[in-house]
Amino acid sequence: MARTIIVANQKGGVGKTTTTVNLAASLAVMEKKVLIVDCDPQANASSGLGIDVGEQEDNLYTAMFDETRVRDAVCETELPYLHVLPSTHDLVGADLELVDRREREFYVANLVESIGEKYEYIFLDCPPSLGLVTINALCAGRELLIPLQCEYYALEGIAQLLQTYEAVKKRLNRRLEIMGVVLTMFDKRNRLSFQVEREVRTYFPEKTFATKIPRNVRLSEAPSHGKPAITYDIRSTGTQAYISLAREVLERG
Ligand SMILES: Nc1ncnc2c1ncn2[C@@H]1O[C@H](COP(=O)(O)OP(=O)(O)OP(=O)(O)O)[C@@H](O)[C@H]1O
Ligand SMILES: [Mg+2]
Repeated sequence: MARTIIVANQKGGVGKTTTTVNLAASLAVMEKKVLIVDCDPQANASSGLGIDVGEQEDNLYTAMFDETRVRDAVCETELPYLHVLPSTHDLVGADLELVDRREREFYVANLVESIGEKYEYIFLDCPPSLGLVTINALCAGRELLIPLQCEYYALEGIAQLLQTYEAVKKRLNRRLEIMGVVLTMFDKRNRLSFQVEREVRTYFPEKTFATKIPRNVRLSEAPSHGKPAITYDIRSTGTQAYISLAREVLERG
C-alpha cells in the first residue's frame, strides 16, 4: 500500500506546490516510487515538472470522469521514479460538475485506488481553496501535510482548514491524520520568521517538522526550467532542506 500524502492549505502561495514537487523528487531520488496527483487547475506541479499541460489529452480531469483513461494520463518525468497525473485548467469546472453526483467526494479516491499499487508514495497537491476538489483530495489520502509560510498571519485560516479536516475525518475519511506541519520560506535574517516559528511550534508541538524550508531563489527558479530543485541545483539550501524533510517524512511512516 502506498503512503498517500495530501498537501493542503487554503491560503494561496504558501508553498504547497513547491513542497509537493521537491519532497516527491527527494523521495524519488531515494528510489521510492512516487506519484504526484496534481489537483489544482493552475497545474503548477505539472508544468513545474516539464509537462506541457495544453498538449496533454488525458489528465486528472478526464480520468476522474472516465477511469479507463488514468493509465494514459500518468506522465513520466526526468526522474525515473517520479510520475505525475497532471492537471488541466478544465478542472475549474469539476466542483460544479460533481456537485449533483452521488459519491461526489470520492472521485479522486477511486482513481488513486486504481493506480495506488504501483507506487510507494502518492502526493496530492491541492488548490488554494476548500472546494469539492480539495475535499476529494482529503478523501483520497491518509496523511495531511500542511505548509505554513513564515509570515504575518501564518496561523490565520488554519482554524478553517482544521475544521474541514475534522469534518472530513468524521464523515468521509476516518483514516485521515495530520502527518505534519512544515514551515516554508523561512528567512533567517528576519526576526518575524523566528517569531512565526515559535508560534507554530507552540500551536503544533508534535506535528511541526524540525526541518524548516528556507527562502531560496533556486526553489522559485527551478519550475521555469521544468525541473525539481534537486536536478536544477542539488547544492542549493532549498534542495538540501527538502532532502532533510524527506528523511523526516520517511521516519513518520
Ligand atoms: N522556499 C521558497 N523560497 C523561495 N521561493 C519560494 C519558496 N517556496 C515557494 N516559493 C515561491 O513562492 C511562490 C508560491 O509558492 P507555491 O506555488 O509553492 O505555493 P502554493 O501554496 O502552491 O500556491 P497556490 O496556493 O497558488 O497553489 C512560487 O512562486 C514559488 O516559486
Ligand atoms: Mg500550488
